[in-house]
Amino acid sequence: MKVALVTGAGRGIGREIARQLAGHGMTVFAGVRDEGHAPEGSRPLPLDVTDQVAAANAAKLIGEEFGRLDVLVNNAAVCGDFGVPPAEATAAHMRATYEVGVFGVVTITHAMIPLLRASGEGRVVNMTTRLASLSLTAAREPLNTEWAMLAYNSAKSALNAITVLYANELEGAGILVNAVDPGHCATDLTGHTGTRTAAEGAAVAVRMATLGAGGPTGTFSSEEGPLPW
Ligand SMILES: NC(=O)c1ccc[n+]([C@@H]2O[C@H](COP(=O)([O-])OP(=O)(O)OC[C@H]3O[C@@H](n4cnc5c(N)ncnc54)[C@H](OP(=O)(O)O)[C@@H]3O)[C@@H](O)[C@H]2O)c1
Repeated sequence: MKVALVTGAGRGIGREIARQLAGHGMTVFAGVRDEGHAPEGSRPLPLDVTDQVAAANAAKLIGEEFGRLDVLVNNAAVCGDFGVPPAEATAAHMRATYEVGVFGVVTITHAMIPLLRASGEGRVVNMTTRLASLSLTAAREPLNTEWAMLAYNSAKSALNAITVLYANELEGAGILVNAVDPGHCATDLTGHTGTRTAAEGAAVAVRMATLGAGGPTGTFSSEEGPLPW
């Protein structure tokens, strides 16, 4: 039975990813800040992604029981500058957003890499967005212009870069690392403006979390296919 960890699994898309991975027969650790919010069928794991001690404790707990981690979904994020035009965003917006969606991802991934290596077929899925695409932003695609956020979008661009760097290094250990865009989903993050459900957004992450050997790594895609960097 595969062992998975999903961060930010207490609500939104993360909760659906945890639920769907459990539906694939995996043992799913639901990384949550409030244990009462873990979805049914998962194992609640107290995990604030900004907390290095919590990350180390989580790795210890999973390591002692299973000796490996097969799937890590870095889902937790905040959007510190929702609705703030880029010229009005401050370093405080940047820090708050990067703390969870960039530094938090590195904190958790770094703690879990030994367990992912032990799996021999580790899968890492980083939740990103097409708003992170420098190509689409430079081309002034309507969506990227309408949702131009200095902190959130650039934090996800950084996450895309981190995805490729991890993918290149970890391929030899059988670990596939990919970035996925769930599409515009109706969750707290978007003020429930999205047209897709959290469950629909979760599907692409689950697909990349359940890739077979020889699957792609270092990619950036949505349900419709590859996205430009
Ligand atoms: N919704 C969309 O349309 C959309 C589009 C593109 C990409 N995404 C990405 O998809 C992912 C999920 O988004 P969502 O819409 O489901 O967001 P959401 O509903 O706002 O949920 C965010 C999750 O992140 C968790 N979180 C925040 N700070 C945390 C921390 N310090 N430690 C641990 N967990 C923390 C929250 O936990 P608490 O409940 O404890 O606060 C919550 O579970 C994010 O990476 C987001 O950027 C979403």
